[in-house]
Amino acid sequence: MLSRAQVHAEPGMGAHAAFAAEMRACLAARPRRISPKWFYDSRGSQLFDAICELPEYYPTRTEFGILTRHAGEMAALMGPRAEVVEFGAGSLRKVRLLLDAMEAPARYLPIDISGDHLAQSAIELQRTYPGLDVQPVVADYTQRLLLPAPLPGAGKRIGFFPGSTIGNFTPEEALHFFVLAGQLLRGGALLLGADLVKDPAVLHAAYNDAQGVTAEFNLNLLARANRELGTGFELSKFWHSAFYNAPASRIEMHLVSRERQRVEWRGERFEFDEGEAIHTENSYKFTVEGLHAMALDAGFRPGPVWTDDAQLFSVHWLHAPA
Ligand code: AVJ
Repeated sequence: MLSRAQVHAEPGMGAHAAFAAEMRACLAARPRRISPKWFYDSRGSQLFDAICELPEYYPTRTEFGILTRHAGEMAALMGPRAEVVEFGAGSLRKVRLLLDAMEAPARYLPIDISGDHLAQSAIELQRTYPGLDVQPVVADYTQRLLLPAPLPGAGKRIGFFPGSTIGNFTPEEALHFFVLAGQLLRGGALLLGADLVKDPAVLHAAYNDAQGVTAEFNLNLLARANRELGTGFELSKFWHSAFYNAPASRIEMHLVSRERQRVEWRGERFEFDEGEAIHTENSYKFTVEGLHAMALDAGFRPGPVWTDDAQLFSVHWLHAPA
């Protein structure tokens, strides 16, 4: 989510300064909230990978199944020599399914704010696809950005945004993302993974796993702030709260203060009442119609939608504006 706090992070600011500015703004605001993009330091990425393996966390394996089953159809829509632009350098397993099915993929451009993770992913992918032009782009894709010009003789430019990361955006931010993606993908398409509205009990379990990995992932935000910013949060004084907000169609994650406490950081004092929380993440759930309405508003034309038998997850082909 582009929290209000993010207003304080100016473009061009380094990631460390931006994290510090957003944490300061978060602590000074009421209610407190911060962008979930700060979950993903190396420990956070490791915990997220562990979440993806949990029995309760259905999205990753369900989307993987959909991509596996329909990669041929997707590749046919992409056509020869296509360029894949991935928003976020996630696990490379998903894009490999596409690349393996595609006819002569020309280039892979993963965009991510974390340069380290990105470089690692790029090296690994280049090893298996020596003929592919792999060009990582270190940038925040929620902001306007420039991509290298298409290669001579290149086919369509295809955006790939899997994992329902779109669910982290508010509806307004999602629309903004679609508009920016439309500008980058002109004449091409966006292949988008979106988690579907479903039985709240299934959603609840996915964000409150029995092993407590999601709790640790959430609390790692404070641990990371302690490591990188010297905030001195006492982790044992906060608990992981995740619940489905049905009217808003979203899972919300919060870090709730177990008691009245004070956090001192850089000469300032921030008070927490008992039960007062930091809102760390929204994970919106979609209907196919709702998602199409948003894409249409940004000038995309809805194409095929692939789902699993239980209708847990959806993958959308959206034609970019001409
Ligand atoms: C990566 C944003 C899709 O919302 O399900 C997993 C992150 N948070 N468990 C999601 C997450 C808690 C995940 N996304």
